[in-house]
Order: sequence, then C-alpha cells, then structure tokens
Amino acid sequence: MSKPARSIETRHHEERDAFFAGLRRMSRRSFLRLAGLSAGLAMAKRLVPPHSFQLVEVAGAAETGKPPFTFAYISDTHLYPARLNDRFVRAILKAVDDVNSLDPPPDFVLFGGDLAQLGQREELDLGHEILKGVKVPVRMMVGEHDWFFDMGEHWRALFGPEQYSFDYKGVHFVTLMSVQEKDFWTERGMTPMQRMQTVAGLDNGLQSRFEVGAAGREWLTKDLEKVDKKTPVGVFSHSPLYKYYRPWNFWTEDADDVQAILRPFEHVTVLHGHTHQLLTNRIDNIYFHGMLSTAWPWPYAPEGLPKLTIQQNRADPFDQFDGCGDGSVELTESGLANALYNLWDRNPVTVRASYLASSGAQDAPPRTKLPSY
Ligand SMILES: [Fe+2]
Ligand SMILES: [Fe+2]
Repeated sequence: MSKPARSIETRHHEERDAFFAGLRRMSRRSFLRLAGLSAGLAMAKRLVPPHSFQLVEVAGAAETGKPPFTFAYISDTHLYPARLNDRFVRAILKAVDDVNSLDPPPDFVLFGGDLAQLGQREELDLGHEILKGVKVPVRMMVGEHDWFFDMGEHWRALFGPEQYSFDYKGVHFVTLMSVQEKDFWTERGMTPMQRMQTVAGLDNGLQSRFEVGAAGREWLTKDLEKVDKKTPVGVFSHSPLYKYYRPWNFWTEDADDVQAILRPFEHVTVLHGHTHQLLTNRIDNIYFHGMLSTAWPWPYAPEGLPKLTIQQNRADPFDQFDGCGDGSVELTESGLANALYNLWDRNPVTVRASYLASSGAQDAPPRTKLPSY
C-alpha cells in the first residue's frame, strides 16, 4: 500500500525543520571558522581597527578620471546575546561570508548601525567579535539601538568616535551620528534600560524625533569647509537624512538644516540604515539609498514613500531571511553610486546612479509584483 499523501502543512513543517536544522549546522561551522579566522586575520592580514584606515592617494586622478571603486555594507543586525536569539547571529555570519566572498573584494565594508538590539555590552561585544572576521577594513556607524542604554559609552570604547570623516580615492566621506534625541528620560526618572526600550519602540510617542543636533551640524559644517565643492561627498547616516514617516521615526528632525549644509556640493550620496528596506530618494543634488537589514525587513510606511522608490516585494513571513540582505555600492567616476541590493532569497536589485540623475526617466530597476501573503 502506498504511503498516505502528506498534507501541505505537514510538508511545509518538514521542509522548515530541515531548513532550520541546516542553518544550525551552518551556524556552528561558520561561527567556529570565523572565530578562528578573526584571531588569525588580525595578525596575518594586518586587520586594522576601523578608524586607522589608511588613506589612499590616487596619483594623476584629475587627468585620468577617478577610478570607480566598490564598498560593501552590512547593516541593522540587531544582535541579542546568542543564547537568547541565534537567528540574528546566523544572519550576520551569512552577511560576513557574503562580503568576504566578493570577487574582487570591496575596498571596505560599511557597517550601517544597530549592531545591538538593546545596547548591551554582551550584544556589542558579540558584534565586535564577529565583525573581526571581515577581511577588509570596516567603517562603523552607530544606530539608536547601540546608543541609548549607556549613551554610546561601550560602543565608543569598541569602535571610536561616532562622527568622523575620511578621504578615499577622491571622495570625501562623512559619518554622522544622526540619532540624537532630546532628553525625555531625566524628568521621568527612567532607568537606562527603560530609556533604551523607549527608543527601541519606534512608535511609542514618548521620545523625540531623531536629529543630528546643533553640535553635530556644527561639526559637519567645519569638516566640509576644507572640501572643494566639486569633490564628491559620501555621507553615512543611520536615519535617512530626510523626512519620510514621523510616527515610526523614519525621520530626521533637522534634515532641512543638514541638507542645506550639503547643498553647495555638486554630488552628494547618502547611505543610511534604520529603515530596513529598499529605499531610493533624491532631493536636488543629494541622492539617498537605504540599506537592507540582516535581521528583519520593515514594511513600507503607509505614506511619505519617496517617488523614486521601487518597492521590494513584501517579505514572505514563512521565510526568515526574505527581505533581508546586505549589499554593495559602486562609486562611479562622477562620484555617484550604483547601489546593489543583495536580497537574500530574492533576485538582487541594482538602483543605478543614472536612474536618480534622470529623476527616474532612465534605467529604472525592475518593478516587483508585490504578492500578498
Ligand atoms: Fe535597525
Ligand atoms: Fe535604527
């Protein structure tokens, strides 16, 4: 007698169990391999701490045109201690494997913020340890989840200052701390954990909106004083440096003031984390690209979606990595960016500089079918 047919639910659960079992095996192997690598790499590959990255002078760049270069990103890993949640640990390990296997390798890797989930030492230490496995230099950016438990104390001890700039192959890069908030905690007598959890709940209505703040803007103005207006400028910020959707803090309160500081420059490209989705915007000379998260995709906000954004498919809730991913950015000769979204379990999508430069008239990325689950 033949075996009774298995129901679709049974098959689904079996497949899922096999999938998770596979990931657990992969995770242990990857983790051990990375843990071994990180110690060896630090010596063998002269792995330098993020902020001692060497600047590279390109001789004769003005005559020959600036060579394009590529950097990769990993963002919004939201790590809990591994014993509480190893899914997000597996996701960052997958991203580290991805960027390490790029051929040719990227010039550096940008980490887009929200390394930790609740700013705990253990979470930040875990992320720090795993990122040592990246074979090229890592540029760090801070997110609100890294910051509001101890106001950045442990993050700074691990990674250095939260705002810094560097020049690389003819591009001036600036990393901003864009998730400052006005003090909502002192008056309410909140503990550090209550403060952190309030900020982590994006739509709880207690907190103020994110901002670069007066001191940050002053620092940015000063930093850019010495930069020629024709030099391409790359800006790394955790929140989008524009106003997308206020109730979820997909928002930078002083975005207008920050954009005014960037407006005199011919080409400005902003790479931001925090929104966990494929997101494209242009405001005058400033081109914006959101980064994917390795932990989870946010849905698109119900209003305020930038016109140039072509939405990624809604993620399949039965596929833990769907809508997540990492990516890389190719800086073209003009200093503008072709942004590659390496969506796990989906086709990759490239949002080309020419698409933004033509305000959407050319080289539109393929439209998705937006299936509903
Ligand atoms: Fe995030
Ligand atoms: Fe964030």
